Amino acid sequence: MSDDIKKGLLGITVDETEVSKVMPEINSLTYRGYAAQDLCAKCKFEEVAYLILNGELPNKKQLKAFEKIERKERNLSKTLLDDIKKFPKKAHPMDVARTAVSIMGLEDKDTKDNSPKSNMRKVMRIFAKTPVALAAFYRIRKGKKVIPPKKKLSFSENFFHMCFGKVPSKEIVKAFDVSLILYAEHSFNVSTFTARTITSSLSDIHGAITGAIASLKGPLHGGANEEVMHMMNKIKKPENALNWINKALDNKDVVMGFGHRVYKSGDSRVPTMREYFGKVAKIKKDKKFEKIYDIVEKVMIDRKNIHPNVDYPTGPTYHLMGFDTDFFTPIFVISRITGWSAHIIEQHAANKLIRPLASYKGNKYRKVVRLNQR
Ligand code: CMC
Repeated sequence: MSDDIKKGLLGITVDETEVSKVMPEINSLTYRGYAAQDLCAKCKFEEVAYLILNGELPNKKQLKAFEKIERKERNLSKTLLDDIKKFPKKAHPMDVARTAVSIMGLEDKDTKDNSPKSNMRKVMRIFAKTPVALAAFYRIRKGKKVIPPKKKLSFSENFFHMCFGKVPSKEIVKAFDVSLILYAEHSFNVSTFTARTITSSLSDIHGAITGAIASLKGPLHGGANEEVMHMMNKIKKPENALNWINKALDNKDVVMGFGHRVYKSGDSRVPTMREYFGKVAKIKKDKKFEKIYDIVEKVMIDRKNIHPNVDYPTGPTYHLMGFDTDFFTPIFVISRITGWSAHIIEQHAANKLIRPLASYKGNKYRKVVRLNQR
């Protein structure tokens, strides 16, 4: 392959963005200039969602107005809820999220209008309704009654309420909020680039987010948090971890939840999420997954110098919170909608059709032979 080809767009800068950056000088992911871990320590998820979408942290009044819209937009249309009831119970919830956002696009009166104001109205609807659609499916597939959203609850509290019928302790809600903050945005990753590519043809935000969800589902991207849990379940107990991981590396297997295209010496989101994983494990009085986590991490660093990414601690954290494994990546979705949307709006504001070239290595020119002569 020619050196001119940058497979996977490795190392290629394709546009400018104001939304986020991994800043080498502080070795951290930053949203609009703020370190993600600083935001985790001082803000709740709604503040960070506002920041990502609007460029600045909100004051109290702005936050209140933002939350008011999000809470008002939570209800699903009867059509969407009826459709979700008809979805196959075995469907992957990522496919449910993708289809639900697509249906929202059919119903939204602003679908065709890509102006910044209209896009922001649509973002707020997608942001508010997607968790409600997912929680409805969570209940329906278990044969349980759908729990409607509650306006007095925060974004995170409401998600627990709709899935489980109760809101857990403040510490658990904070750990969930932190995971949402850490998942909210990450520059030109594959799903965001997908959203921007779709937008670049001047298509609409529902289409761009639908495509982004499909892209996030893959195990090399968001789907990794589910794969981490499958791996931990296969390992079963801490005593098996050392053997398991050494064997996996001897077999040259890809170990999920490790490695990253951008961070080569550690994902800056991991220490924060690791801390909250520990807090949740302590509350749940279940240290098994923490022990497996530490053993696998040590071997990966010692043998391969490959560090964990954020999907490594989120997987077992969501498990301990009580979520089904196939809901881990959908939780990533409800947060990343903010980052995708900021990028879609940015792309619309300074658009250039994304259309790379490919080096052709197929057949030389040849003439078509008619069917009866082939
Ligand atoms: N397990 C074992 N070996 C690995 C891993 C891993 N998780 N990650 C990278 N390597 C090895 C890889 O085999 C390659 O070795 P060699 O040079 O000998 O062929 C080398 O490290 C470079 O890896 P790469 O796959 O060429 O690097 P990349 O930048 O193309 O891929 C990645 C990055 C995230 C796709 C990859 O690290 C991976 O597959 N990780 C597992 C999936 C995962 O956890 N994904 C979540 C990504 S971060 C959060 C998110 O977006 O959700």
